[in-house]
Amino acid sequence: MNFKYLIVNIRSFVTYNLKTNAMSVHQVIKRVTTHVLYEMKLRGEKIAMLTAYDYSMARILDQSEIDIILVGDSASNVMAGNETTLPITMDEMIYHAKSVVRGVSRALVVVDLPFGSYQGNSKEALTSAIRIMKETGGHAVKIEGGKEILESVNRILSAGIPVMGHLGLTPQSIHKFGTYVVRAREEAEAKKLIEDAHILEEAGCFALVLEKIPAKLAAKVAKELKIPVIGIGAGHEVDGQVLVLHDMLGITQEFSPRFLRRYHNLFEEIKGSVKAYIKDVKTIDFPNEKEQY
Ligand code: KIV
Repeated sequence: MNFKYLIVNIRSFVTYNLKTNAMSVHQVIKRVTTHVLYEMKLRGEKIAMLTAYDYSMARILDQSEIDIILVGDSASNVMAGNETTLPITMDEMIYHAKSVVRGVSRALVVVDLPFGSYQGNSKEALTSAIRIMKETGGHAVKIEGGKEILESVNRILSAGIPVMGHLGLTPQSIHKFGTYVVRAREEAEAKKLIEDAHILEEAGCFALVLEKIPAKLAAKVAKELKIPVIGIGAGHEVDGQVLVLHDMLGITQEFSPRFLRRYHNLFEEIKGSVKAYIKDVKTIDFPNEKEQY
């Protein structure tokens, strides 16, 4: 089946179901693809994306019908306890992504290319992206940067691998910026961000993440681009939102930026359960008669 035919097919399937059942693309679709995301943007339906790094969490997210699961290099922080995303290796990203893919049947799985795996040259970038796709079963890769990584983006795309861009606060460049403050407040940086966004779209990226930039700027980019723009700390006038799962569940405690909405305090809840278990073990309340053979 050729690509054009596939898009037309998805579109007519969606249109039929939307007309007959008045359902959203999100409700109708069985598998989220890059074309489905594009269709969602066209229809003004917001895209929901979260990170996951393991099978169990990915399964919960997928069964909750999240649109995109990002195997982010934030695994370096939240899973491995590193201060930055820089130390995580290709092998570690592959381990996380493989585990996630095993738990997913509906969501689009995007995998971050780790620091050092694509900045050197475009050949190295392609080799890295191919390893991710071959060894994990993920559906797309995400890389940070604009014009300066264009050659790598082009080479990866030429191999038929979908690429998600990432502009604004790009944590792999933290030592260049020095801080995690809001990016592109100044006119020159905002202008470069807009140019980079267009460059990435024209190259063929299927979506773009904008991290920690003024809401007005993010809204302008989302309006100008045809591809979906997913924000994190970029306001609501974009096409979707992404958060780090461990932050929104309140497992991480020390990270509290203004843009983060915590839906739970799992750190305290898990601690409470562990304390109760310890007490039951120490007082020989666990296991009881019914819990033994
Ligand atoms: O690694 C990550 O979790 C990310 C998101 C913050 C977008 O890149």
